[in-house]
Amino acid sequence: MTNTTIEKRLFAKPLLGLCFLRSLHYFLEYQIMQTLSAIYTQSPRISARFTPESWSLLATELRALFETDVLNVLNSRLPARILWTESPLSHLKRVPKIVFDGILLSRRRKRRKSRDFSDDAHSRLDGLPDYYRCNFHFQTDGYLSEHSAELYDHQVELLFAGAADAMRRIVLPEVVQLFDERGADSLSASSPAPFAILELGCGTGSMTKNVRLAFSSAEIVATDLSEPYLKKARRRLKGVRFVEADAAKLPFKDEAYDLVFSVFMFHELPREVRNQVIQEVKRVLKPGGIFFYVDSLQLDDRPNFNHILRNFPRDFHEPYYLNYIESPMRDLIEPAGFRTLTTRFGFLAKGEVFKKI
Ligand SMILES: C[S@@+](CC[C@H](N)C(=O)[O-])C[C@H]1O[C@@H](n2cnc3c(N)ncnc32)[C@H](O)[C@@H]1O
Repeated sequence: MTNTTIEKRLFAKPLLGLCFLRSLHYFLEYQIMQTLSAIYTQSPRISARFTPESWSLLATELRALFETDVLNVLNSRLPARILWTESPLSHLKRVPKIVFDGILLSRRRKRRKSRDFSDDAHSRLDGLPDYYRCNFHFQTDGYLSEHSAELYDHQVELLFAGAADAMRRIVLPEVVQLFDERGADSLSASSPAPFAILELGCGTGSMTKNVRLAFSSAEIVATDLSEPYLKKARRRLKGVRFVEADAAKLPFKDEAYDLVFSVFMFHELPREVRNQVIQEVKRVLKPGGIFFYVDSLQLDDRPNFNHILRNFPRDFHEPYYLNYIESPMRDLIEPAGFRTLTTRFGFLAKGEVFKKI
């Protein structure tokens, strides 16, 4: 047995153990929050709808996702620092706000209020696309306040039992390998050549951070429509240019980027906007450039999950989600002039990598 194999065996179990512990923590936090909200709003808990079969399926898929993520790190396909998100102390300090906000969110859900904004958020609505002016997920202020930006990542991890960040990177090892083969900057390149990466809908920069770690000397531009989310991303991550821009009308030159990507954005866009974004991706990518997205599974990707996907927009305000899950992304992207290189599933996410032809 080689030294590397022994190291992998030694580290795999503790790392996986930490992922499960973190996941269990988020799961329990979410159950407590749901119970408090259910008592306060006198409505049923959301997870009460899940059957034992659904729970078992979710647990199996969650385990597979964590195993793949940890193996990617142990096989040096991703840097180890990618597994670190934040200190437990920063997490715990946020919990009281999260619980209180969870109750407000449940109240909004019960009343089906999806255009409910504080004065601060209201003042930011001008000039934004109409579909965007709502409380996605019934979250406080939609994407339009610093309060929302502060809680967002924590809330997403609660929803996915601590698996959101692992889902975000399901196709990242393949993308790193593609650029390795091309001789651009990568984990193993000895003299990295800078190249240009563009992210669409970066939110508070969670996937930007993963890509920054994987491509350490690339020029990265990350865009979003939300100024408060961009502000948080800028605080969190140096060496990335964060730009307020609409992914459907990008303020960038033709053929400027080697790699364009987007995570968890497409399911929130109306179909025609999804189309416009793909056209923009095609325009700003260099010939032969790479595009990848990661987003929710779509119908029949994993038929056992169909009922979970169909229920999702009932509980979390997602006006375009049903249309999204019914319209395979590949059917939108390939006709625009792309060839599919990879499709991967991980827990509730799908990631696909395309090459511009
Ligand atoms: C569900 S969040 C995902 C954020 C981030 N990518 C992540 O992985 O957490 C969707 C993001 O897309 C952004 N967004 C929605 N429509 C957009 C558009 N037309 N142009 C740019 N960003 C947009 C939102 O502001 C929000 O930050």
